[in-house]
Amino acid sequence: MSNFTIVNHPLVQHKLSIMRNKNTGAKDFRELLSEITTLMGYEITRDFPMEEIEIETPMQKMKAKFISGKKVAIVPILRAGLGMVDGLVSLLPVAKIGHIGLYRDEQTHKPVVYYCKLPQDIEERLVIVVDPMLATGGSSCDAIQMLKERGCNNIRLLCLVAAPEGVRAVQKEHPDVDIYTAALDEKLNENCYILPGLGDAGDRLFGTK
Ligand code: PRP
Ligand code: URA
Repeated sequence: MSNFTIVNHPLVQHKLSIMRNKNTGAKDFRELLSEITTLMGYEITRDFPMEEIEIETPMQKMKAKFISGKKVAIVPILRAGLGMVDGLVSLLPVAKIGHIGLYRDEQTHKPVVYYCKLPQDIEERLVIVVDPMLATGGSSCDAIQMLKERGCNNIRLLCLVAAPEGVRAVQKEHPDVDIYTAALDEKLNENCYILPGLGDAGDRLFGTK
């Protein structure tokens, strides 16, 4: 079974609480999502392998620690996942970025694919799938499946708010994928929105309705 991590850091929790408030506007929502993603990026990269390479400080030579050639791809699920890209790129500036476009059908709540563009060597990379909302889990499961069909076997999922239903779905369909979230909420409503949640993440990010 994969790891399931709730990033409980006070800065993350404080910023998430501001995002949840319905009176928080798109500008603040965007900035907070980006800041939280950077903070969570610290956790998701915690186990990156290190190597020692000799350098010279102004004082003397030393063996200094560097991240050991980890090739990373960041894959946002459109649209809302776009709001998490910059926050991770600020930590991982040479990561490549793929895009998977999925929207939930309003009646069935099942994801529909409309776009997929991935780095050519995606199967050689650690792939971090980003999407703020893990509700039924359908979108994340399908995105992960698309990546696996292209040979990816090292995938992590970074979200902001998860419902128990979504976590269970990803753990069942993709037990090898580690999940990181800032919050595990109570449940889904009849329209498969997360309660208490933060509403429609894409609409709040981009000011649409
Ligand atoms: C939202 C969200 C996730 C998905 C989560 O996207 O950003 O991708 O729903 O729901 P699920 O876990 O039940 O699949 P939405 O389909 O609203 O598209 P958008 O980001 O373009 O608004
Ligand atoms: N998508 C969202 O944006 N919010 C939810 O609560 C569920 C799915």
